[in-house]
Order: sequence, then structure tokens, then C-alpha cells
Amino acid sequence: MVRLTTLLKVCIAIVCFKQSFGRKDLLTFDTLEKAKASILTLIESVKNNKDLPMIAGTVRLLFHDCMGQGKCDGCINHSRPLNAGLKKVTDRLDPLYDTSFKGKMSRADFYALAASVALTRSTVEAPVKYNGLNHFKVGRKDCATSPIEDDSGPYRFIKGTESTQDTFKFFKEEFGFNTREAVTLLGAHTLGGCHLENVGFVGSWVDERFSTVPNGSLAPTSVLDNAYYRMFIDIVPWLQVTINDKNKQWQEITHTTPNDKLPKPNRVPILLNVDMANSWIIKPTDDNGSVSCTPTSSKTRCQHSTAHKYAKQYARDNALWVREFTKMFTRMINMNENKLYNAPKHKKHY
Ligand code: HEM
Repeated sequence: MVRLTTLLKVCIAIVCFKQSFGRKDLLTFDTLEKAKASILTLIESVKNNKDLPMIAGTVRLLFHDCMGQGKCDGCINHSRPLNAGLKKVTDRLDPLYDTSFKGKMSRADFYALAASVALTRSTVEAPVKYNGLNHFKVGRKDCATSPIEDDSGPYRFIKGTESTQDTFKFFKEEFGFNTREAVTLLGAHTLGGCHLENVGFVGSWVDERFSTVPNGSLAPTSVLDNAYYRMFIDIVPWLQVTINDKNKQWQEITHTTPNDKLPKPNRVPILLNVDMANSWIIKPTDDNGSVSCTPTSSKTRCQHSTAHKYAKQYARDNALWVREFTKMFTRMINMNENKLYNAPKHKKHY
């Protein structure tokens, strides 16, 4: 009888140890620090003049990884047209993960860490720092086929040409985020830009005019700040132009030659309908996103959307936006079927 109780106790101890060890101690402090350093080296190694394209690339990757079943699960379906361009990012991250971190952390954690390191790097010179990395959580579960997503089910994502109503409906249905939270997250478009060969739009959202780091060592498209909001709050006249005889994007009224007709150095900032939604009620009349109103027309003036007041606040207060963006980005990247836990902050001493 004594022997049986002892045996039972040993068995319970083994199960408990396996459960806690198997998950909580999977990722050590040393591995995490090594992963952060390797990711930063990778981000710095891909340079395009003053741009570090992996900053925008990893942030977009996370948004796309966090959509669909399993949420942020280290899986991307590269055959979906709206994921175009993300392979360039995963083709850089995956070999690093596979050779040095596989089995030590999940791919989903690695992708989320990459975006968090990227955002931290993007504010090194900026007046307000991204501090999400200090509260980084781990324990995300990968989808069974990671890094490939083999889903053929319904897909909610929109292209960027849709109406204001459909833009905010997407955020509500996909993530449960309200209008203010969606406006907050869309500020990520201050980073990077659109590439004709991907989704069919051309140009970046910001330029030097509203950068919080004028003449810094990084281009405005690699700096996380509220320049995006200032582009459409402080500049009102925008007009739609047609890219590749198809997709509609907005350019300033003073620069209406479509970006695809201009050499790269002469291209100007853009907005998609999804960005206009932050300030205006947009109701496209076709799948290309054609809209009959403009923000300044005397006859067919667009009306302000409910989102306008939030965008205006963010345009006026960079610190407020960076703080709220950090909170929302963290909420988004922590969506996973597993319960996450705090990343190890110190070396363990035995
Ligand atoms: C309905 C919402 C959204 C739509 C329709 C949308 C659409 C797009 C499109 C069309 C591009 C251009 C892709 C290319 O040509 O390479 C893009 C780029 C980007 N998006 Fe979004 N986006 C949305 C929300 C978000 C959110 C919530 C985030 C992050 C939190 C995000 C982050 C980015 C970034 C950083 C880029 C630049 C990527 C690069 O330069 O490589 N987007 N988005």
C-alpha cells in the first residue's frame, strides 16, 4: 500500500514536471536574447539607402499571420494574392529560425519577436520609443503545417479599395476591434509602402514632411511615429488616380501623375481607401475602389467618418499614438489558442 502511494506520487510529480517543463521552460533567457540579437542583425543587414525594409516587412507579416484560424500561428498562405510580398520576409526569417531556434521556441513566437525587435529598432532615434518588447509574451502554438498555411476556407481580409464601413467591419469581425482600435492599428502604415508587383498599388504613405526624426539615419518609412495621421489630417486635398488601368489610390492634388507612371525617385505619398476611412466616408462604386466624392470638392465633398476624431487626436499627439499602438499591436500579436506567459527576463540560477 505504501509502495503504491509512493508510486502514485512519483507519477503525479513526473506529469506535473513534464507539463510545466514542456511549456514554460521551453524558451530560456539565453535563447531569447540570442534570437533578439540575430533578428536585429538580420534587420540591419537588409538596407535600401536609409530604409530598413525588414522593419515594415515583419510588421505586415505579423498582421497577416494573426489573421484567420489559429490567429498568430507562424503560418502564411503564400498563394493568397493579398499576402503577396510576404515571402520575401519569411524567406529571410525562416532559415534563421530553422537553423538556430527550431525546437527552442515556436515559429509564431519567433515571428512576433521579429516584429517587436523591428518596432524597437524603428524608434531608436524617435522621440517616443516602442516599449512592447519589455512586455513580450511567449508560448504561441504554431499551426500544424507551419510555416505553410494550407487553408482553403473563407478569408475575410480586404484589399484596401473597400468602403469605410467595410474597413471597420473587417477589424470588428476578424479581431473584435472597435473603430478607434482599428484607427490605432492602421497607423502602422507609417512604415514601408505599396509595391506594384504585390497587391497593385505604388508608393509609401509618408515622406520627410511630418517625420519626427527629420534628417535622421533612417528614412521616415522606417520610423514608427504619427506622420501617417498628419499626412491626411494636415493635408486635405487628395484625388484618386488609377494604377495599371485598374486599382484606385489617392495622391495629393498637386501630384496627380499616377506613381506607376513615374520613376521611383519621383514617386509621391499615397493613401488607399482603407486609409481614407480614418477621416472620410468612402463608398466605392466598383471593385477597383472608384469613389465619386473628394475631400475638397465643392459639389461632391466627402463627409467625415466617425474615425476622424481619433485620427485627429493621433495627428496632434505622437506620444499618445505610440502608447496606444503599442497596446493594440501587443493585443493583436498575443492572439493564439494557447495561453501565453511572460518571456523570461533573467537567467535562471540553480
Ligand atoms: C484592412 C486593413 C488593411 C489593409 C487593406 C492593408 C493593405 C495593405 C496593402 C495593400 C499594402 C501594400 C503591400 C505591398 O504592396 O507590398 C500594405 C502594406 C503594409 N501594411 Fe497594411 N493593410 C491593412 C492593415 C494593416 C495593419 C493593421 C498593419 C499592422 C498593424 C499593417 C501593416 C502594413 C505595413 C507595415 C505595410 C508595409 C509593408 C512593406 O513595406 O513591406 N497593415 N497594407
